[in-house]
Amino acid sequence: MIKVGIITASDKGSRGEREDKSAPVIKDMARQIGGEVIHYVIVPDEQTELVRSMKYCADVLKLDLVFTTGGTGMSPRDITPEATMSIVERLVPGIPEAMRMRSLAVTDRAMLSRAVAGIRAETLIINLPGSPKAVKECLDVILPPLKHGIEILR
Ligand code: MTE
Repeated sequence: MIKVGIITASDKGSRGEREDKSAPVIKDMARQIGGEVIHYVIVPDEQTELVRSMKYCADVLKLDLVFTTGGTGMSPRDITPEATMSIVERLVPGIPEAMRMRSLAVTDRAMLSRAVAGIRAETLIINLPGSPKAVKECLDVILPPLKHGIEILR
């Protein structure tokens, strides 16, 4: 079993003003690789909150895989990549490269996502864009090889 965490970065979602439609997509699709969601939280687009949640997933819960969704774009409040980079020890550039490469075939706006992926201890943290459509398109590409990646991370 792969222990999965989902952190949704959304100001409106955290205030209960917008339904989170992306987390259910992640939860569903993670099952393809034997992933079970152990922890799920919605936080505002604030670096301190994102960092706290990611550290909790990695250091306390010791999850294998954490997906963030949202906050990867270019609006002034989008801070998820910076929060991620501030706490990972090693980057895994191939994952966002693959997401953007394949997503560009669907929409040229894929280049606007600044998503990163990286490793903190034995936890792989991956930024996904915010929309459920984008989440599905990105997970279609990256899920198959992730199982192997997580096996060698332990
Ligand atoms: N990637 C895929 N596969 N499909 C999409 O529809 N939308 C893009 C991009 N990546 C998109 C995508 C858009 S419009 C934006 S603004 C960025 O992701 C950032 O999204 P975020 O700020 O919600 O993280």
